[in-house]
Amino acid sequence: MTAAAVIGLQWGDEGKGKIVDCLTADAGAVVRFQGGHNAGHTIVINGETKILHLLPSGAVRPGVECLIGNGVVLSPRALFAEVESFGAGAAEVAARLRLSGACPLLLECHRLLDLAREAARVGGAIGTTGKGIGPAYEDKAARRALRLADVADAAGFAAKLESLAQYHNFMLGNYYQTETWDWRADLDFILSRRDELMQMMCPVPERLAELHRAGANILFEGAQGALLDIDHGTWPFVTSSNTAAGNIACGAGFAARHLGRVAGVVKAYTTRVGNGPFPTELHDDTGRRLAERGGEVGATTGRARRCGWLDSVALRYAADLNGVDTLCLTKLDVLEGIETLRVCTGYKNTRGGGGAPDDCEPEYAELEGWDESIGGVRRYQELPRAVRGYVEWIEERVGVPVSLLSVGPGRDDNIIRSRLFD
Ligand code: GDP
Ligand code: IMO
Ligand code: MG
Repeated sequence: MTAAAVIGLQWGDEGKGKIVDCLTADAGAVVRFQGGHNAGHTIVINGETKILHLLPSGAVRPGVECLIGNGVVLSPRALFAEVESFGAGAAEVAARLRLSGACPLLLECHRLLDLAREAARVGGAIGTTGKGIGPAYEDKAARRALRLADVADAAGFAAKLESLAQYHNFMLGNYYQTETWDWRADLDFILSRRDELMQMMCPVPERLAELHRAGANILFEGAQGALLDIDHGTWPFVTSSNTAAGNIACGAGFAARHLGRVAGVVKAYTTRVGNGPFPTELHDDTGRRLAERGGEVGATTGRARRCGWLDSVALRYAADLNGVDTLCLTKLDVLEGIETLRVCTGYKNTRGGGGAPDDCEPEYAELEGWDESIGGVRRYQELPRAVRGYVEWIEERVGVPVSLLSVGPGRDDNIIRSRLFD
């Protein structure tokens, strides 16, 4: 039995969904502990693509319990839209979905505030996903958020929602002078789905303790990535939650002492969607090639992802921050056909703090590239020498072994060197 985490080590979109999906073959439960439907986790099974936003990626594997912890900001509309996207399988998915009653609700007012704040921001927009994530977490910190458990008392919920509307509509209408919130539409929607919501509500910490005692393998699915962490990322161009593995304890209600393993997911190069520093960003043909071959388009917003070389300084920072004991290296196949690969090993003219300081010039190591197509390789020793050289260089630099290499988007496009769960 193991409790393990899968954490993104860059700016998100490292391929966490695919890795979580691989690992759920051996897991009893998958748990989200932070973020919301700003995430976009892609899983490709038999050529069919499924993108999960709010639901744990275990949703695509029948029988796997899916838990959403209190650290997640929960949009009831996004939740039902996603469950219903399973079509004939929707009821089966809903039956194994458990939601913490302590999840703050993400409502339409938060989306309106997110858009208004972005437009008005001094110093430039953050480039959020526009889903309302930041304002929903603000309401949590301010202790005025409505939580899932509040839905149990319909009359009380309506009164609290009206009071929340008075507060936010004053801000939207007067300060931002923008569209106000039709809170009654949210009220009607939520009350119309009240029975289903209450059926899915579950004391997640107790359930996790029970699963742990019973010896189940539990997988915690990170969203976003280390460099988007609200405290440890590239502030202020970050998301509004702690993405780090340390937040599992609070965001799910699972004793920190019981987390046994932390797998860090890292893309073989770097991408970022949204604004903010990105020292190794490429604006040339190589950058465009990575974007094209890697299909680097945001899974949630459809925005083009910025692309650049791997940054081993930021990677080591992220691995240390999360206590990563194993790496999953994704999208190695995308690098084929580049004669010389570069990996950042340091910065000149460093000014900022954190993992990837802005306003600095990266220094690079050059590594041999490869021309061979590696998508069909399943055994590590069968990889071209240059590919192994790249992998082993990363292992040495970060000080963590690469246990899984992903060489294509499909569920089985992997080279597994050692298993996460015993
Ligand atoms: P996540 O947010 O970390 O789950 O990652 P996303 O799903 O947003 O983005 C990863 C993208 O890369 C998706 O389109 C995946 O299907 C794709 N992908 C994942 N692993 C690989 C890989 O090894 N090779 C290739 N070519 N694509 C991959
Ligand atoms: P997954 O889980 C990549 C980025 C946004 C923006 C910043 C803040 O698929 O890796 P927010 O809407 O969270 O307030 O936006 O964070 N961002 C992501 N970038 N992948 C994600 O999730 C992201 N979730 C948020 O682009 O820069
Ligand atoms: Mg994504």
